[in-house]
Amino acid sequence: MSNITFTMIKPDAVKAGHIGGILDKICAAGFRIKAMKMTKLSMETAGKFYEVHSARPFYGELCEFMSSGHIVAAILEKDNAIADFRTLIGATNPAEAAEGTIRKMYATSIGENAVHGSDSDDNAIIEGNFFFSGLEKF
Ligand code: CMP
Repeated sequence: MSNITFTMIKPDAVKAGHIGGILDKICAAGFRIKAMKMTKLSMETAGKFYEVHSARPFYGELCEFMSSGHIVAAILEKDNAIADFRTLIGATNPAEAAEGTIRKMYATSIGENAVHGSDSDDNAIIEGNFFFSGLEKF
């Protein structure tokens, strides 16, 4: 079990003005922000980040959406970070997400689902290193 996860606040939630609300829930749930930046992905960088999904039918749509506006990327620290963060954000499809979860509150569809959360300890490290250098992690 690692104590690190990686998240992005996605373009739908940034455009709708939910950065503050989402960060508030993350901090209230006991996560510490180890690194954070607002940035914008190109089609190419979105494609690299989501390469694991390149064979999926929604890959093109996913990359277009993720490069359609600003995102907020962050590395978060907490005991049991992967599982606890996935509980906090709720199911990938907001229609199936539990009441009070970030996706239930802020997401509109399975594609535009407000936040990303790493699915494993190994991917949290890979994803965090995709966005942040050693000098940017505290
Ligand atoms: P995320 O946790 O960022 O990881 C992969 C993303 O692919 C996922 O959130 C969804 O936004 C997206 N995704 C998964 N399934 C579908 C789908 N059926 N249609 C469109 N997008 C999807």
